[in-house]
This record gives sequence, structure tokens and C-alpha cells, in this order.
Amino acid sequence: MKVVFFGTQPYDRETFDRLAPEYGIEIVYHRSDLDACNAVLAQGADAVCLFVNDRADAPAIARLREAGVRLIALRCAGFNNVDLEAAARCGLPVVRVPAYSPHAVAEHAVALMLALNRKIHRAYWRTRDGNFSLHGLMGFDMYGKTAGIVGTGKIARELIRILLGFGMEVVAYDPFPDADYAAQSGIGYLPLEELYARSDVISLHCPLTDRTRRMIDARAIAMMKPGVMLINTGRGMLIRTEDLIEGLKSGRVGAAGLDVYEEEAGYFYEDTSDRVMDDDMLARLLSFRNVIVTSHQAFFTREAVDNIARTTMENLAAFDRRGELRNEVVRDPLSGSRAQRAAEPDRTDDVTVCL
Ligand code: NAI
Repeated sequence: MKVVFFGTQPYDRETFDRLAPEYGIEIVYHRSDLDACNAVLAQGADAVCLFVNDRADAPAIARLREAGVRLIALRCAGFNNVDLEAAARCGLPVVRVPAYSPHAVAEHAVALMLALNRKIHRAYWRTRDGNFSLHGLMGFDMYGKTAGIVGTGKIARELIRILLGFGMEVVAYDPFPDADYAAQSGIGYLPLEELYARSDVISLHCPLTDRTRRMIDARAIAMMKPGVMLINTGRGMLIRTEDLIEGLKSGRVGAAGLDVYEEEAGYFYEDTSDRVMDDDMLARLLSFRNVIVTSHQAFFTREAVDNIARTTMENLAAFDRRGELRNEVVRDPLSGSRAQRAAEPDRTDDVTVCL
């Protein structure tokens, strides 16, 4: 089986090259992200393997089909970058890696919270410059504060476990609440508006769908506690960045930890340090001392990367050898909430795939 990889980094090659002989898969790597213009690079491949910033929109998918591709294998959990309707029309199934280490992402969310709260990023630079003053570095006890968690899937549950360990009260919103889990863990489900009003820290862990796109906008921010800390390790498009910037300027938002950004393609995963930044919103975000932007790296642990590669290879091999669609992304034609349908069959996989 021949597979063309788009949007690759050196660590992809290292990890996948180690596994390829075991699965009998021939890999061609491309550095560039997939789009309609370069989809032709997949000519003669049985499958393409994509990551978060590859754009599998309708024109790109049509070209992949023309090139003879029979499968889109995502080496990530989110699938908002694939036009599932177009893929279905072209008869191109989509598979993904539903879980590889919810711990990695949850722990990164906590890293952002603690760094912002205790101003570690500022203290780091100050002490290196001989400035040992505490001015402006005061934080707050996590203990006793309320965390509002949006989405209570695999990653959120790991995060909730950690936050409960700090002695925080945890409230959550999910359109598919799990009463057993709530009773067991001691969290409470609330309507979104109430979660906004009660939380000192809000962390986003829902998929990007038509319903969640830009859910954090001026209206939502106005409902939040003044000085709220916002953490986003979900998808950049969950937040309307202009409104977040206004919230930060007015002080309504006290701090923001962003591992994802709505226009991240072109910047994230690239070294752009010798270029002039032409994205004014990103430049403005980076100018706030109470904002930390990381480059979609929450997943990036040794364990997670190994699990991603292993599951991707198994997805590809199952299709090649038995025509089997493992971890297929199933489109729900009735609602924008595609993730739920797609995630449900994978719940049992968590045990084997997660750490
Ligand atoms: P999951 O599928 O286990 O959980 C998602 C949860 O969100 C489900 O409980 C679902 O019911 C809920 N949900 C669906 N629609 C919602 C809505 N409108 N409002 C609130 N909740 C809603 O997914 P998992 O593995 O926990 O991942 C969550 C998201 O994290 C992914 O969709 C992906 O976008 C992002 N992610 C980010 C990574 C990073 O490196 N920054 C790495 C992996 C995932």
C-alpha cells in the first residue's frame, strides 16, 4: 500500500519510518499542507494521511479522488478540516485516531492554567534579567475556585480528574451529559450560560462543529465572571478572536491560554522568526502579557506521538488487508454534531489506545 503524507514534520518521519516495514506500507512524505492545488501530489497513492492544518475541502477531495486515492487517514482526533459531505459524495472514507493520549492534552491545559495564574512566563524572563521583584506576579489559589469545562469527553475527563485534585469545584456543559460520570466524579452539569457565570477558569474541550464555531464571542464573554481565565486546547475557531481581544483589552478576560488559533495555518508548526508578522490578530494576542500562545502542541508527548503512529498504521493496514474501516468518522446528516456519532463507537478503544 502506498500512502502520501501531507503536512509532515521531521518527528513524523522518524516515528512512521520506524513502523512502516512492520505494516508493509510505503510512505511518501510532503512538507506542505494539503490543499486543492497540491492534491495532485497524491497521484498513484492508495491513501493520504493528513494532520490538523491540511485542508481537505471539496475541491481538494475531488482531486484526491481523481488521483486514485481510496482512503483519507487522519493522524489526529479532530476532523473539522475535512469536508465529510464531499468525501461521502466522492466515496472516500475517512478514518482518524480517536484517542492517543488524553493525558497529554489535559496536562498541557493545566500547564497553561498554572503558568498564567502564577505568571511563570513573566518570572522566567525577569529573573534571567536580574529582576527579582514580585510586582505584578500575584496569582490565586486554585483550591476552592470553580472550573467550567465545556465538553466532557476523553480529554476533559482527564483534566477534571487533575483539577479535582487541586480541590477545585468543577462544573461542566455537554449536550450529551453523562449522569453516571457526574455522580461518580462529583462534578455538576450546568447550562452553558450558568457555567459562564460561575466559573473562574473556563476550558474548552468540545469538537469544532457548526454549533460550536465561535461559541466564545462577545455575548458569551459578557456572561462570564470579570477576570475569567480562558483556556483553549480544542480548536481555534471555537473562539471569535476579535471578541477575545476586546475582552482582554477591557480586562473582562483576565488571562487566556491558547494552544490553538483560528488562523493558525501558515504560522503554527513553522519557524517564521525571520518574517514580518502579517497576521494582526495574532500579533495583538502576542502583545498581551496575560496571554500565552502555544503552537498546537498540547498533543506533543512521546507517548501520544507513538500512539498516533501506531493507530494510524493499524487503520491503514486494516483497510489495505481486509477493506476494513477502523475508527471511521461517521457523518451525522441530522445535526452539526458529528463528533458524538463518530466518537461513540470509539469509547471502547480508549482502553487500548490511551495510555
Ligand atoms: P471526545 O469526542 O472524547 O469528547 C468531545 C465531547 O464534546 C463529547 O463529550 C461531546 O458530547 C462534547 N460536545 C459535542 N458537542 C458539544 C457542544 N456543542 N458543546 C459542548 N460539548 C460538546 O473528544 P476529545 O478526545 O476529548 O477531544 C476534544 C477536542 O480536543 C477534539 O475535538 C479536538 O478538537 C481537540 N484536540 C486538541 C488537541 C491539541 O493538541 N490541542 C489534541 C487532540 C484533540
